[in-house]
Amino acid sequence: MGVLWPLEPATEAKHRLYKRYFDAWWPILLQPNGRTGRSWSKVTLLDAFAGPGRYEGNEEGSPVFTLRRLLEHGSVARMGLTRDRVQLVFIEKQRDRYEYLLGELGREFGALDRLPVRVEVRQGEAGRDSERILTEVGAWGRPILGVFDSWGSVNTPMSLMRRIARNPSSEVITTFGPNWFSRRENLNPDVLDSVFGGRQFWEHAADIEDSDEKWRAWLKIYREGLQRAGFGFRLQFKVVPRTGQPLYLVFGTGHQKGVEVMKEAMWTVDKSDGMSFKDPRCRSAAPVGQGSIFELEEAVDPELLALMEQRLLQGPASLETLGTWLLLETSQWRVRDARQAIQALDEDGRLVIPAGRLTKTSVIRLR
Ligand SMILES: C[S@@+](CC[C@H](N)C(=O)[O-])C[C@H]1O[C@@H](n2cnc3c(N)ncnc32)[C@H](O)[C@@H]1O
Repeated sequence: MGVLWPLEPATEAKHRLYKRYFDAWWPILLQPNGRTGRSWSKVTLLDAFAGPGRYEGNEEGSPVFTLRRLLEHGSVARMGLTRDRVQLVFIEKQRDRYEYLLGELGREFGALDRLPVRVEVRQGEAGRDSERILTEVGAWGRPILGVFDSWGSVNTPMSLMRRIARNPSSEVITTFGPNWFSRRENLNPDVLDSVFGGRQFWEHAADIEDSDEKWRAWLKIYREGLQRAGFGFRLQFKVVPRTGQPLYLVFGTGHQKGVEVMKEAMWTVDKSDGMSFKDPRCRSAAPVGQGSIFELEEAVDPELLALMEQRLLQGPASLETLGTWLLLETSQWRVRDARQAIQALDEDGRLVIPAGRLTKTSVIRLR
């Protein structure tokens, strides 16, 4: 592959999600907190597999759209951008892509040292160099959003995730490219130990043959790794583009608010072309955005219904508990989706609900 390559549909779908998420993330961290009136003295976004900044069809790569959207953000006047306070760090391993990225950022934004934020572009190896580079730019101790967007060679050690997890208000997004799960047999077991936190955590998944089960198992292992690393909240999902190969994403955050914001991003993203997000827990339900749902006003997504039934199979729960479970344990569903799922299952006669109005404390069980 040359310096540039064509933009795959899954990458384009992922970019749509990143744009929504980053647009929400910057003001949350940079604007004074409504309650305390304080805000962070420094915030760092690390794009550790940055790429050349451009695709063959002239589409923008992640470093370019990330910087552009920050500088042109609707709330930019209230975010207090200064070079000391806001920094974007881009790491690219391949020299020609690193040089292309430097040139591309210069063409798009002019001299980087004149920008109102610090932009640090390094040639380096994400797994080996991220921690050191974050130290050099003084990122630790203040929020970091780490984006680890490799294709098939995820090599970022769990020790790095652990350090980010223990850093204040910090988050990670790790993607697994379309071939990662099929190529896994060729990957070095020592690297897998480092990425997943130890052989004992991944060994059982090594022999899974079924390609559909493989991604579920490995994403679960990674998600559990992020939990051990210290991320209190994790999401994992498959990004399914309208055409072409899917890709897989795991998100870790220390705050429930991070989960809520990521889910809002998933819901406000333009899915009109049929792209969707799929929950690993669901094997049969049709995913969102593939024509089956919301066409009829009352129709409820089969994935939501299947997940809700799965949860109720574990035992009765209040509407409030079910909402929190949807938010924290499923890929894309929110607290408010619990009510419509319960109403739909009830209409099918599948539930026992205490008589009267459905309230937060109503305890619901399967019939
Ligand atoms: C999936 S592409 C990144 C795309 C980019 N983040 C975007 O969304 O536009 C992965 C990039 O990481 C680079 N790369 C591969 N291994 C790397 C490593 N170990 N460290 C840093 N960069 C690496 C590749 O050369 C490639 O440009």
